[in-house]
Amino acid sequence: VSRVGRRLSAELDLDSLVQDVTDAATALAGAQFGAFFAKGDDPRDDALTLLALSGVPRDAFASFPVPRDTDVFRATFTDKGVVRLADVTKDPRYGRNAPHRGMPPGHLRVASYLAVPVVSRSGDVLGGLLFGHPAPDMFTPRNEQLVVGLAAQAAVAIDNARLFEAAQRAREAAEEASRAKDEFLSVVSHELRTPLASMLNWLKVLQKGRPDDDSRFERAVASMERSTRIQVKLIDDLLDVSRIVSGRIRLDARPVVLSGVVRAAIDAIAPTAEAKGIRLEAAVDSNGVVVAGDPDRLQQVAWNLLSNAVKFTPAAGLVHVALDADDAAAHLVVRDTGRGIAADFLPHVFERFQQADAAATRAQSGIGLGLAIVRHLVEIHGGTVAVASAGEGTGTTFTVTLPLVS
Ligand SMILES: Nc1ncnc2c1ncn2[C@@H]1O[C@H](COP(=O)(O)OP(=O)(O)OP(=O)(O)O)[C@@H](O)[C@H]1O
Ligand SMILES: [Mg+2]
Repeated sequence: VSRVGRRLSAELDLDSLVQDVTDAATALAGAQFGAFFAKGDDPRDDALTLLALSGVPRDAFASFPVPRDTDVFRATFTDKGVVRLADVTKDPRYGRNAPHRGMPPGHLRVASYLAVPVVSRSGDVLGGLLFGHPAPDMFTPRNEQLVVGLAAQAAVAIDNARLFEAAQRAREAAEEASRAKDEFLSVVSHELRTPLASMLNWLKVLQKGRPDDDSRFERAVASMERSTRIQVKLIDDLLDVSRIVSGRIRLDARPVVLSGVVRAAIDAIAPTAEAKGIRLEAAVDSNGVVVAGDPDRLQQVAWNLLSNAVKFTPAAGLVHVALDADDAAAHLVVRDTGRGIAADFLPHVFERFQQADAAATRAQSGIGLGLAIVRHLVEIHGGTVAVASAGEGTGTTFTVTLPLVS
């Protein structure tokens, strides 16, 4: 047992560890076959998962229903007790469960039965080792003792392997976050530089003296103003995120008629939508949707969602805005027929620095902070924001829910 234990403690891969434990324990038990079952994390779910099998090929087991937390199994997986039976088919707890009332047809013949729980340091049942033999009365107290000893060693080894895997996952997450930040830096530099380059060009034109052509002069000034605004917005977003991170964002809260805020955001985005050939539809309930909040911040929420919808929807597409309320909450829904969001990116849309297309291939402007800001602003208003998309090319729907002022 201690030799096997030493070998197990060096194994950090959970799958091979569980297999090694099952093989060694089956040999020590003198069983025809052994199996390692794990209990799920959900206590309401009594299904057991087969992790490893020894002594029989997996397909001898594959077509059988996984054992459930029946009386015989409960003794092991819930009560953490060892069960050793000379003949399981004669046990009164055996065979009382529908649908099979015993072994499912075609199941390996089992008379001798031994089950030992594998219990972690924290007292959780990690799983159970189950052994069987077609002949009755095969497992002696000595077999039981050996397997119990091995199960204790296995529990420590499994705990370690789990900790190792958790640490590895945490490191991967940290590396991923750091990669996202690096990428973000390159995206921000690019987004700051583009309007600056344009401004510099116009500045050079103006340095040569005021153009005789008035329209050229106006174009220069208008373009420089646009570039400046883009940069101000970008830096405002950066400042917002740094305030969010340090918990310094403050709300100037008062009763706000949400329809006014939403209309203002629609008006602000309308020229961009029109220039892009996108139809902008609104169904805004104008009376009575009053929430407690900061109107500028709420408008920022609506504008960010609308600007994304317009940005990620191609020409001839549709952006639909709906505002209504039920008894308790206001619902703002921004739906577009645009490029949609892939299922694997969907869980990350509200994370800062995250954009679906990588820095080098970006087709759209933006730095990936808008939705992180949206989520934070909505949450400090006591609300929630959700995203839905059936996948790439299928459009996207964002829903903001805010509590009404009673
Ligand atoms: N309506 C949408 N349709 C498709 N993809 C979207 C939509 N809204 C957001 N996304 C995806 O989520 C990412 C993050 O959105 P977010 O608003 O946070 O950043 P951004 O628009 O790229 O930049 P920023 O808003 O900071 O200027 C986007 O880059 C895009 O990949
Ligand atoms: Mg955005």
